[in-house]
Amino acid sequence: MEPEKSSQTRQQTKLLDRRLFLGTSAPFLLDAATVRGSQANSRITLGMIGCGGRGTWIADLFQKHGGYQIVAAADYFPERLGPFSEKFQVPKDRLHSGLSGYQQLVAGKVDAVAIESPPYFHPTQAEAAVAAGKHVFLAKPVSVDLDGCQRVLQAGKNATEKKLCFRVDFQTRMDPMYQEAVKRSQVGDIGRIVCGEATYSCGPTWDRQAEFLLADPGNPEARLRAWGLDQILSGDVITEQNIHALDVACWILDAEPVSATGTGGRKARKAGTCWDHFSVIYRFPGDLLVTFCSKQLGQGWDDICCRMYGTDGTVDTHYFGEVSIRGKMPYKGGRMENLFQRGAAENIAAFHQDVLQGQCANSTVAPSVRSNRTTILGRQAAYRHSTVTWEEMMSRGETFDPRLEGLKA
Ligand SMILES: NC(=O)c1ccc[n+]([C@@H]2O[C@H](COP(=O)([O-])OP(=O)(O)OC[C@H]3O[C@@H](n4cnc5c(N)ncnc54)[C@H](O)[C@@H]3O)[C@@H](O)[C@H]2O)c1
Repeated sequence: MEPEKSSQTRQQTKLLDRRLFLGTSAPFLLDAATVRGSQANSRITLGMIGCGGRGTWIADLFQKHGGYQIVAAADYFPERLGPFSEKFQVPKDRLHSGLSGYQQLVAGKVDAVAIESPPYFHPTQAEAAVAAGKHVFLAKPVSVDLDGCQRVLQAGKNATEKKLCFRVDFQTRMDPMYQEAVKRSQVGDIGRIVCGEATYSCGPTWDRQAEFLLADPGNPEARLRAWGLDQILSGDVITEQNIHALDVACWILDAEPVSATGTGGRKARKAGTCWDHFSVIYRFPGDLLVTFCSKQLGQGWDDICCRMYGTDGTVDTHYFGEVSIRGKMPYKGGRMENLFQRGAAENIAAFHQDVLQGQCANSTVAPSVRSNRTTILGRQAAYRHSTVTWEEMMSRGETFDPRLEGLKA
């Protein structure tokens, strides 16, 4: 069972907490002059790029927020657009398919875009949206390679200069208990942090797509449908999925690692190119070691955890469990209820507020790029079964060739 998707299914059956949304109606009362691209008391018009599992699920949250109107959609596959258009009443002439569909979408009349496509496409689509004057709501990971990380960082800065909002959707960062535990750890409540661990354990994902891929391995559309099994399109499991755990590690330590020593491989997975387990030891400044391990296989243990051990206490965080501090200065914290949905809804609400209030500092971009690069450092070390330093990684650079031949423009 894969935590992201299984949770998604679970969460879909639960009703959203309306109080969350009622709390966001206040920005509509703001002066029209502060509203960029939207008229006061009107909704932010939104284009959805990528109408698969997450795109369709999150479109529902945007709609339930009440401050958005979904007016356009782009997806490589036209058959994904039909049901999306019906569900969200998107006019047929605002549906765009093929690899370049996003270009038509950003050229059209929308205030903002939500990018929920496979990660390889994120930098290009985000850049295009900012260039076209649109606010950007972007799914993690921001990029699969270093070049894309830099481009997203720059797109975030360009957005700020153009008075556009750019938000990356990490759910943990919106949670008050995560925020409190991180703050307390940073001001010394667990003493000097000596070492830590970050783990992401889940079952096999993409089983259905794997079947199609195995049946027709040379078909570029089968590969695109099964992008989560593809190292280039997804960035591999450590970047695409495990970033949730490593993002919390970088957040608590407020640093990037100095080096990583890694290994891993694939023993259970049959289709695609992604690995199914990683083991990486990160060395952070001050010789602080964080042991990371992940698996996307088997059954029986799912968790997204980041735990740091200090001289006076331990901060322990679980995306689907509890967040707490134990030790001399304990913090009871509590259980994460519905973080998968609540965190996304909070980001949607914060994005809305930022747009309406013209808050374009775009402070989620740089930390998201830092943790994205951290996953890439771990991936490079693991692929080489060796040690890679941050400096070496950054000076060498990295640009993936997506090999998109055979796909429709
Ligand atoms: N907890 C989270 O934050 C969370 C959870 C799930 C997924 N995600 C992220 O959301 C993104 C989408 O994941 P998903 O699970 O919805 O995948 P998905 O395969 O279900 O959906 C992706 C959609 O994008 C479409 N697509 C492919 N290439 C495209 C292109 N060039 N332009 C536009 N659309 C294109 C696909 O046809 C598909 O409909 C990923 O970045 C993933 O990491 C985040």
